Amino acid sequence: MKRITIKKLLETKPVEEQVLVKGWIRSLRQSKSFCFIVLNDGSTQENLQIIADNNLDGYDEFSKCLIGSAFSVHGQVVASQGKQAIELQASSVEILGKTPADYPLQKKGTSLEFLRDIAHLRPRTNTFSAVFRIRHELAQATHKFFSDQGFYYVNTPILTAMDAEGAGEMFRVSTVDFDSIPAGKKIDWSRDYFGQESFLCVTGQLEAEAFACSMGSVYTFGPTFRSENSNTTRHLSEFWMIEPEVAFADLEEVAELGASYIQYMIKHAFNHCHSELVFLEKHFEKGLIAKLESVMDNDFKKITYTEAIEILNKSGKKFEFSTEWGKELQTEHEKFLTDEHFKGPVIVTDYPKDVKAFYMKQNSDGKTVRAMDILVPGIGEIIGGSQREDDFEKLQNRITEMGLDQDLYDWYLDLRRFGTVPHSGFGLGFERAVMYITGMSNIRDVIPFHRTPGSIKF
Ligand code: 4AD
Ligand code: MG
Repeated sequence: MKRITIKKLLETKPVEEQVLVKGWIRSLRQSKSFCFIVLNDGSTQENLQIIADNNLDGYDEFSKCLIGSAFSVHGQVVASQGKQAIELQASSVEILGKTPADYPLQKKGTSLEFLRDIAHLRPRTNTFSAVFRIRHELAQATHKFFSDQGFYYVNTPILTAMDAEGAGEMFRVSTVDFDSIPAGKKIDWSRDYFGQESFLCVTGQLEAEAFACSMGSVYTFGPTFRSENSNTTRHLSEFWMIEPEVAFADLEEVAELGASYIQYMIKHAFNHCHSELVFLEKHFEKGLIAKLESVMDNDFKKITYTEAIEILNKSGKKFEFSTEWGKELQTEHEKFLTDEHFKGPVIVTDYPKDVKAFYMKQNSDGKTVRAMDILVPGIGEIIGGSQREDDFEKLQNRITEMGLDQDLYDWYLDLRRFGTVPHSGFGLGFERAVMYITGMSNIRDVIPFHRTPGSIKF
């Protein structure tokens, strides 16, 4: 007999039919002449209740199994008066794998911190399976959102020679035998695997631009690596980013695209993961559902960086970092804008050029660039984007000014040399979006296996 998932079973409710289910025990309670087995197979947040009579073969053994043991159960679906409309009357129970008493998830209420140290087992908890089902749905929503609007999905390289953000936060990729290099001797990178210094990508944007400037609208969705030493609740060394890039679009157009993409993901989560959201609201973020509803139904506020600075300076609040014009917006500033001042998402545009990347389009004021960040309460920046500099000379000058190696950017400049067009795009940090929508407050808890400074165990 073919296995049916618990999700399918609860959806179709085939009362009186014989079925086969497999999963892990969430609880097992013995009564006089039977036991209740609560089984979960990961296909849904819900568990299946199974009744197994004590006259079944192997009853003495399986009825003593501990939480986390894996069972295969044949039985008949019966209508139930309990929480769920159906339950299973077992006709045979087979033990697939037993769990000894030292199973780390034997007790309820283990902390998220403790679970981070057993990242390979945490998907077996209600919390993590809920988070990762939502993560899956948000990935599906991403492809649907862009594909439905005519965007093409492009896979940009992970290995690269370019520091595409110009921030120097790159992991080196090399086959050099570092042990064989005498102390103090300079490494000749031209003899390395690719014949030049190579790294893991910090973005796929520049390559996405090449495709946008030919196929119109494209997006990437891939792993991204940053070696910044940021041990915070919202930074990972390896994260996933979605980067749409749109030819002929200006900043306003992609700012709107970013806001509607976030709203679309939320709607999708409502339609596909409602029980997960209810669970996460109950255990992690009070008011999660109301928060998401309000984001779904309201336009995002939009201000310039200069206006943001004015708001901060008029707030009368004491900030740790300077709020002088020209300085970067720090987490505390972003938090004030989203959590206290606007009480919702905010789009901030036109940042000072010196705090932003070389590729952003310069405004005529000579001081600012056509950049935009979308900030959300509790997290801060979730999207970073810009209109791209489409003027060959201006871009070339900016590359020189920033001390970047001209030769590496030659192909990128070609996009401005041959049929240049205005174009814009952004990057959404996928884990930050998952945090926002699940209400989880540490980014390590929304990626299956996290890499952060000093941590690469799993
Ligand atoms: O603002 P960022 O650095 O922008 C870019 O990489 C552009 N190339 C995007 C583009 O225009 N195509 O990063 C974009 C987003 C941030 O807003 C943030 O959500 C996320 O990526 N992000 C991180 N997420 C987790 N850990 C990190 N260390 C992150 N750094 C950036
Ligand atoms: Mg940014």
